[in-house]
Amino acid sequence: MELSALKEKAKAVAMNAHAPYSSFRVGSAILTRSGNVYVGCNVENTSYGLTTCAERNAIAGAVAKEGKVVIEQVVVYTPTERPASPCGICRQVIHEFCESDVKIHSYCDSDKVLDTSIKELLPEAFNLDDFD
Ligand code: THU
Repeated sequence: MELSALKEKAKAVAMNAHAPYSSFRVGSAILTRSGNVYVGCNVENTSYGLTTCAERNAIAGAVAKEGKVVIEQVVVYTPTERPASPCGICRQVIHEFCESDVKIHSYCDSDKVLDTSIKELLPEAFNLDDFD
């Protein structure tokens, strides 16, 4: 799937964000190896710490549908002037479902784009091998 199509899906779902506390809407679209796309938006809570991010909500939907998920692309959209990259918790959760380095593209309402990857954003990640 084209990145522009993933961006449009992330942009559309950002409008459904439940963000009455921060007013910061985030949308995410995740392409999995099976070719499916899952979207998520941030869902805030009056008990602030219960907030869940757009990226993790998209991944939760993918796991619920597919069981074993391999992420191929991650797109984040914010209706802002500057693109935003995934928070630390989301980086670790994205990493959980990446078999190799995966590109992460952050879009916003200006022409600025942040193109990174999970290895760049989470070097030396904690993973299953660390259990040995
Ligand atoms: N947020 C996301 O949805 N994804 C991120 O990676 C960073 C932060 C949300 C959480 C909260 O609802 C709002 O953005 C402000 O932090």
